[in-house]
This record gives sequence, C-alpha cells and structure tokens, in this order.
Amino acid sequence: MMSILENSKIIVDIDSCTKCEACVNECRFYYFDSDILCLDKKADDYCIECGKCAAVCPVNAITLKLHKDEILREIPTKENFPSFEFLGNLFQVRRSRRQFTNKPVPKELIEKILNIAGRYSATAWNQEKVYFTVVQNRETLKKLSEESTNQVKNLVRNFEDPQGRNTLETAFPPRFIKRLEGLIPAFKLFLKMIRKGIEVWRRDAEIIIIHSPKDALSPIENCTLAACQIMLAAETLGLGTCSLGYITAFFNVMRPVAKIVKLPLKHIAGYTLAIGYPKARYYRIPARKPLKVKWF
Ligand SMILES: Cc1cc2nc3c(=O)[nH]c(=O)nc-3n(C[C@H](O)[C@H](O)[C@H](O)COP(=O)(O)O)c2cc1C
Repeated sequence: MMSILENSKIIVDIDSCTKCEACVNECRFYYFDSDILCLDKKADDYCIECGKCAAVCPVNAITLKLHKDEILREIPTKENFPSFEFLGNLFQVRRSRRQFTNKPVPKELIEKILNIAGRYSATAWNQEKVYFTVVQNRETLKKLSEESTNQVKNLVRNFEDPQGRNTLETAFPPRFIKRLEGLIPAFKLFLKMIRKGIEVWRRDAEIIIIHSPKDALSPIENCTLAACQIMLAAETLGLGTCSLGYITAFFNVMRPVAKIVKLPLKHIAGYTLAIGYPKARYYRIPARKPLKVKWF
C-alpha cells in the first residue's frame, strides 16, 4: 500500500520522497522528526495553498488537494524565457491607448489573456479572489457610457447648486467633497467633449472590469497587479489597453452604473481596462522623468 502523509490541504507520497529537504527549506510547515517527514498541524489553518512545496519537490511527491486534478507544468527552459532586453522592450512599448478601431476583439483572445496574465498574478495570502467582468456587447457598452454621463451631469449640477451641494456634503465625507471639487473642471470638459460625440469614459473600446470582494485582503492591489499583467500580455497579441480610472470610480460610487454589469454589491472594482485594436501607430517611446530612488 502507498504510504502517504496527509492533512486537509496536502498529500505527500512518502514512497517517492527522497528526504532531500527541499520542501522543509521552502515552507515552515514541513519538518523532519527522526528522519520522518511531518506536516505542522497549523498548516490545516494557515497553509495558503501557494503550491511552492509541490513546485520545489524534485520527484513530484507533493500534491495540493485543491489542484489534485491538474498536471503541473514544468518550468519553461531558459530559451523560452524573455531576456531583460526583450521584457524591457515590452515595458517601454506598452502605452495607454486612447484611440481604438471598431474591430471587435475575439472572445478567445481575451480569455487567453485572462487565463494566463489574469489568473497567474500575485494575490495577498494567495486568496485568488480576483474576478473579471468583460463587456463586449455594444449595447451594454453604450449603456455604460450613457449612464456614466448622466451620473456625472447630475453630480456637476448638484455640486453647483447650493441645495444640491448641501445634500452631497451630508451624504459624503469632507475628503470626498474636496476630491470632487478638484474633479469638477475635468468633468465639465468631458461633458463638452461628449456633446461633440467623443466617448471619453471608456475610449469607445471594450472593457475588462477587475473586481474583488471588499473583505478580501488588499483587494485593490490584487486587481491592479492583474491589470498590469493583462496590459503587457495584450500588447504581445497586438492589442492595446488603457487604464480607466474614472469608470472604475463610477462602478464603486454610482450604483446605477455598476448595476448595468451586475457588479456584486459586496465587490469593489479595483481596476478597469479598455481593450481593443489600436488605431494610431507610435514611432517613438515617450521619455520619462528621471528615476526617483533613495538608497540606504
Ligand atoms: C490608475 C490609473 C488610472 C487612469 N485612468 C485613466 C482614464 O480614466 N482615462 C485615460 O484616458 N487614461 C487613464 N490613465 C492612463 C494614464 O493617463 C497614463 O498611464 C499616463 O498618461 C502614462 O501613459 P502610458 O500609460 O502610456 O505610459 C490612467 C492610468 C492609471 C495608472
């Protein structure tokens, strides 16, 4: 009979184990007691199922129950790794796109990006509580833009009317009101552009909303990291992206906007990306301000 070491999250095939101690060195929940591999009882509660023990075992003797049906991919060989120069090109070539063609992005392409770039980004405590809502339907996209505009119009109107302003001040904390005050000129400019037929909130592109339960650990950071990887991955497939800070805020503070895409009430929108085929061709990489760094 196969001899195994097991807890609620992990199974170790002891017959295959060579006692190399790689798992012990990688994770504090593994230890040897008189030459016998053991798992600390605390692992049942505190193991975050990061899978590093399985990754580091040279004989593949460790399996996470969560991933028991998955065959773990071998680490790609060095030739399949991008060099610093290649990756550097990608970092520098990625730009926020503000103009997109109206060619729809194939669903399979977005799925491919989300499956690798989205699913494999880091999350606090390995919670993996990152959710994606992709909006490709033209009618829904139009509704999102129109509702955002209506909400912003109301906000500007209320802000400039003494009674409306009073209502806002009782409903929101002073910090929010101050922030809003700074945004009113930009909103007015956007409303002017919208009157000229320009779509300003989502750059007239399809969008990916990245959201997370509000009670997850570091929900916004997790969504941001996923967004960052998605932006880079999209670039390798000839797609362009743009961060959409305004629409992300609308999803969080304007329920009628969030309702259009059925964003769960218990979720926070951490990041929104416009995605599509870029219209303009860039010939040069814009310069950046000098590096700001302190060394100790
Ligand atoms: C958090 C965040 C929110 C942003 N929101 C918007 C937005 O709502 N609309 C937009 O056109 N660009 C938005 N941007 C894009 C920035 O303007 C852009 O990143 C910046 O100009 C630098 O250009 P680059 O991304 O091409 O390097 C946002 C960027 C970040 C990081």
